[in-house]
Amino acid sequence: MSESANPFREGLARLRAPEPCVFVLFGATGDLTARKLLPALWQLVHDGLAPKHFYVLGVARRPKTDDEFRAEVRAAVTDHGRHKPEDDGEWADFAGRLGYHQSEFHDEAGFAGLAERLSAIDAEMGTTGNRLYYLAVAPEFFEVIADQLAAHDLIGPDEGSGWRRLVVEKPFGEDLPSAQALSRHLHQLVGEEQIYRIDHYLGKETVQNLLTLRFGNAIFEPLWNRRYIDNVQITVAETEGIGRRGEFYDQTGGLRDMVQNHMMQLLALVAMEPPVTWEAGAIRDEKAKVLKALPDWSPEQVAQHVVRAQYVAGALAGVDHPGYREENGVADDSLTETYAALRLTLDTWRWSGVPFYLRHGKRLPKRSTEVAIAFRQPPLTLFPEAVGATGNTLVLRIQPDEGISLNFLAKIPGTRLTLQAVKMEFGYGSSFAAASPEAYERLILDALVGDNTLFTRQDEVASAWRFIDAVRAGLAEQPAETMLTYPVGSWGPPEAAQLLGPGQQWRRL
Ligand SMILES: NC(=O)c1ccc[n+]([C@@H]2O[C@H](COP(=O)([O-])OP(=O)(O)OC[C@H]3O[C@@H](n4cnc5c(N)ncnc54)[C@H](OP(=O)(O)O)[C@@H]3O)[C@@H](O)[C@H]2O)c1
Repeated sequence: MSESANPFREGLARLRAPEPCVFVLFGATGDLTARKLLPALWQLVHDGLAPKHFYVLGVARRPKTDDEFRAEVRAAVTDHGRHKPEDDGEWADFAGRLGYHQSEFHDEAGFAGLAERLSAIDAEMGTTGNRLYYLAVAPEFFEVIADQLAAHDLIGPDEGSGWRRLVVEKPFGEDLPSAQALSRHLHQLVGEEQIYRIDHYLGKETVQNLLTLRFGNAIFEPLWNRRYIDNVQITVAETEGIGRRGEFYDQTGGLRDMVQNHMMQLLALVAMEPPVTWEAGAIRDEKAKVLKALPDWSPEQVAQHVVRAQYVAGALAGVDHPGYREENGVADDSLTETYAALRLTLDTWRWSGVPFYLRHGKRLPKRSTEVAIAFRQPPLTLFPEAVGATGNTLVLRIQPDEGISLNFLAKIPGTRLTLQAVKMEFGYGSSFAAASPEAYERLILDALVGDNTLFTRQDEVASAWRFIDAVRAGLAEQPAETMLTYPVGSWGPPEAAQLLGPGQQWRRL
């Protein structure tokens, strides 16, 4: 069965048919565009999920003809796409809906030309004035582009002449003041409902399935609270180092690059209350409440609750790698963390006293993102042999190998009463024949249909920054010599174990 004949996809297409529009892609020649955005757009077209009247207009600095851009798009989707283009009518039709507009982002004339080009596209392609502006550019250009769009009447409150949406890539601010300033700036031009702050983690199947699991089943939610849950562990482990992003990473660090956005969003989904309806506003309200309940730590509390470290030279999968401070673009005396572990509690009725353990690191032994819910031990020990054995854990694997497993104890066959941990497994690959869409496919489609459920709202971003700013301020007060280290290929500094309570341990992945 071809994917386009898949009844789920056909249902999705019927339910979520986006209106005609032009997708204006700023940063059309960038890395993210080539690896993720163009393949996602092509896949949506291939699956029949894009609007019938649709046009993708790339905007960047380098001069390029439409045909050159089309050739680049083809190369990008061939290299990175799920469905490879063929020399057939489908590709030709898509190529005919691709165009390129050269402009420096500060250039007035360039944006005047863009306005003319968009009007011409509307007239020719029937795109009816609806526009999605995707800012796949460095954050220093977010305001520049939004101002230019406003100055040329290309953006403003949604009214009459078609809708206007602004998709903004991460990072959204570098701390609370800058995130608030950016939101304030954008709000002078468009309403909050028109801003789509993308966090691609929210486009992943397992992340969305977290909500289905919790609120679509009756068996989990009654246990999803402080009475039954001992602790929650959220891990984002990477084998990669910082690649060629040394300078950027050294200014940023793991707390801002990963914890403030992706991990805070995972935490919000795990800990949120059931929404009153399955609508964007209701779901985002509940997530925002969790993030508002994040603690306000003093520097002393940061010292008790956070462990940060940098990797030093070592081997990973048989390959030697330099330490963080030896990487290109990193200062010799850098105090930027490549590993962070945190213990936090949420002061809410449901979660009071339950530790949430978060850890993220680079150059760890395995690439793995997961949420593990560890349940309490039974109230009575009927099986002395089981004391200390790993109890019930529900693990949501977000990447790689998306799936869910439930660990529990079972009797080993035989005449003796001995117990062993076993697993019930659900894997996306094995349970569903259809391939999961890439996160960007899902999120771009959502933006096209105007569903902002899986995009982060201003108040969520602000609460997450408030928390991370306090953590960073506390760490900044710690003497330079307290920076911990861990060898490449290890699971982080041993001190991270001290964050855990009695009888608890970091999961082995
Ligand atoms: N790369 C990733 O995997 C990734 C992942 C998540 C989020 N992001 C975010 O996505 C955004 C883009 O990242 P990226 O890695 O794709 O960046 P990139 O490869 O450096 O691409 C930047 C794009 O912006 C254009 N550009 C830069 N300065 C310009 C100017 N003054 N006027 C006009 N065009 C200009 C470039 O055009 P020219 O080539 O014509 O100069 C290029 O198309 C960033 O906010 C980043 O944080 C990236």
